[in-house]
Amino acid sequence: MPDVDTAAPVPMSIDSNKENAQKNTNLTSYQLPWVEKYRPRSLDDVLGNTETVERLRSIAKEGNVPNLILCGPPGTGKTTSVHALARELLGSAYKNAVLELNASDARGIDVVRNQIKSFAMNKVTLPPGRHKIIILDEADSMTSAAQQALRRTMELYSSTTRFCLACNVSTKIIEAIQSRAAILRYSRLSNDDVLQCLLKVCQAEEVAYTEDGLEALLFTAEGDMRHALNNLQASSYLAASSGGGTVNQNTVFKVCDQPHPKIVGDIITFCSKGKTKEAADTMRSLYKSGYSASDIIGTIFKVVKARTDLSEGLKLEFMREIGFTHMRIADGVNSLLQLVGLIARLSQKSQSMAS
Ligand SMILES: Nc1ncnc2c1ncn2[C@@H]1O[C@H](COP(=O)(O)OP(=O)(O)OP(=O)(O)O)[C@@H](O)[C@H]1O
Ligand SMILES: [Mg+2]
Repeated sequence: MPDVDTAAPVPMSIDSNKENAQKNTNLTSYQLPWVEKYRPRSLDDVLGNTETVERLRSIAKEGNVPNLILCGPPGTGKTTSVHALARELLGSAYKNAVLELNASDARGIDVVRNQIKSFAMNKVTLPPGRHKIIILDEADSMTSAAQQALRRTMELYSSTTRFCLACNVSTKIIEAIQSRAAILRYSRLSNDDVLQCLLKVCQAEEVAYTEDGLEALLFTAEGDMRHALNNLQASSYLAASSGGGTVNQNTVFKVCDQPHPKIVGDIITFCSKGKTKEAADTMRSLYKSGYSASDIIGTIFKVVKARTDLSEGLKLEFMREIGFTHMRIADGVNSLLQLVGLIARLSQKSQSMAS
């Protein structure tokens, strides 16, 4: 018989155990994306969209949930809110009384017929006056046949089950379902809300930052909290590996790989002063460094929108021209020629306004 004891692991000292546990927690916290680590668990922690969140909070207090459709742009807190709502409504029954189906699950007509129906028929012990909740995340990707199959199911089981749908565009949900549900709209988060979250995460993760670094994160996120947090995490790793350790404008734009707004700002300044050649040269070198015309035109628009030194009239003229060029680029004519043509028109506008 083999000696069992020889196969047993060598007992570790308490100190090395502690050390390992510390290492493990460090490792897991390092590996967890910050968007998940800092995902709000209650409605009180969801930032922005105050009216919508207030409505959800009153639903959570009252307990009688209508069928809901949450729609709005990505990264604004729809999935987060709907889970927080379910958690507040159901407490410890959350695990058994919630069925979540998202775009990664099969959601064809069979699933609606079998899985959703059998969940709706299941008996679950719930707090008094509460209902089971079926969360259909990214519902705009459900086939319309599956949505049709949902119509009657929603009504048949309404005494025991409520549906919460989250989607980006409400028009992709068939009208019959829209009419059976209360629609709550989410809009892009304001810079103040994104900043509040970024500051909290920077403090918790001990990330050193400069003011222009945070500004750059807000500029690139455009009200998408997920984007902002992911960029902050990536920038902080880049900053740590490149020695400085501080998240600043340069690290952020390196991570996001977007044209630097300072260079784009220079081009606009050259145009407003009528220095067409300098503006065209800068644009050419920006284009040659590998950015696509649609990246560049997007940044030009954001930079002009944020400029305060241009007169109102000139700014409007600039935006009009940028809009036309953007349309051509979106149509597929994404060449340097279009961008240089834009510069020529912008210079011409500023000259004619000045005279
Ligand atoms: N309003 C918010 N307050 C705080 N954190 C937020 C908010 N919105 C988004 N976040 C952060 O962004 C992450 C993604 O949010 P969420 O999954 O709710 O987005 P979504 O609106 O469902 O987007 P999608 O349409 O892409 O599914 C969350 O884990 C959270 O960290
Ligand atoms: Mg979502």
